[in-house]
Amino acid sequence: MAEDSVLDREDAIAAVTEARLASVFDTAVDGMIVTDDRGNVLAFNKACERLFGYEASDLLGQNVSRIMPREYAGAHDHYVKNYLDTGEKKIIGIGREVKAKHKDGTVFPIELSIGEASTQGGRQFIGILRDLRARKQIEDRLAKTQAQLLHMTRISALDEMGAAIAHELNQPLTAALLYLQSVSRKAKADGSLDPLLLDVIGKAEREAERAGEIIQRMRQLVEKKAPQRETIDVSELVKSCLEMAELGISEDETYLQSDLENGLPSLQADPVQVRQILINLLRNAREAVADQVVKRVILSVSRADGFLEFRVKDNGPGVPDALVDGLFRAFTGAKHKGVGLGLAISRSIAQNHGGDLRLENGPGGGASFILTLPVGEPEEDTVEL
Ligand SMILES: Nc1ncnc2c1ncn2[C@@H]1O[C@H](COP(=O)(O)OP(=O)(O)OP(=O)(O)O)[C@@H](O)[C@H]1O
Ligand SMILES: [Mg+2]
Repeated sequence: MAEDSVLDREDAIAAVTEARLASVFDTAVDGMIVTDDRGNVLAFNKACERLFGYEASDLLGQNVSRIMPREYAGAHDHYVKNYLDTGEKKIIGIGREVKAKHKDGTVFPIELSIGEASTQGGRQFIGILRDLRARKQIEDRLAKTQAQLLHMTRISALDEMGAAIAHELNQPLTAALLYLQSVSRKAKADGSLDPLLLDVIGKAEREAERAGEIIQRMRQLVEKKAPQRETIDVSELVKSCLEMAELGISEDETYLQSDLENGLPSLQADPVQVRQILINLLRNAREAVADQVVKRVILSVSRADGFLEFRVKDNGPGVPDALVDGLFRAFTGAKHKGVGLGLAISRSIAQNHGGDLRLENGPGGGASFILTLPVGEPEEDTVEL
């Protein structure tokens, strides 16, 4: 009788211990899997169900290789066998990063550590799994931010050098251009040069002019000039920008349109600088729709929360994915003719005004560039670029 009650008590303790273990097993944040020495799943906790998309009942009795990508699955049986034969530990007791496979087939990184236990039923292995996706994302973001920081440091060093170089280069370049112009002027007047050579000199002149233009625009980018604010009538501004951007398109063919919200307030901004942004956006849009059968470019203006929003939308192919990330940096561009400074200068002007410039690539193709400028006069000009 007394013996029976001791047994009852031991059974009860064993039952409580098991219940406790089961509860710990299922409330653990990390995934836990128990397998036998042939890799068959004996237990699969709730965290694992969330991690892999399987119910425990789907996997109990199945080989654990079902939740491993193929390249790991093959090696796994070999590892276990090797360990059982030789006692050589490749992973037991050591956490390491491996890949796991979700029910839907996606492969994701996990940290896996394995413990072992000898039970009456034979040897068992307990795997503890931690999802590394969030950590990986943070690591990736950190690496990206570090790269950006490095880039910014280089840019700011370039900023300082750029102004000096632009200044130094401008003089010899102008001199070279003048020499070329005087040779070609003289040769054209007295026919003293082979037309072929004259043509080459003409090309050199154009290249020198282009280099001069790049330097001028680099200086604009680097100068951080504070805006000269005036009161600007928005509809007149839009009209004059469209006129400038339309040059070269005949009147009956023109596809540049505007769409202004009623009752727009006037703008306090530097008219030359704002015009420069809008014309650059319209020119980019014109170039983007060049190959479309029906071309559409529309400049619309609306009011939004203390800002005016200028939107230049086209039906071109959109900005290529490869360019999007560095789009507003200097010398980004896929055009042969373009310098790749237009958007970098435009954004720095917009930010100098306390506004901004951003891209929205439409889902059905086409790009929209959105320029926001504050309506009222800001207390102080931001000269930070
Ligand atoms: N509306 C648009 N649609 C598609 N791609 C565009 C659009 N606007 C700009 N891009 C891409 O962005 C690049 C950078 O434009 P950005 O205006 O800075 O330089 P650019 O036009 O090449 O030269 P420039 O300095 O003469 O303006 C362009 O070369 C083009 O590849
Ligand atoms: Mg441009």
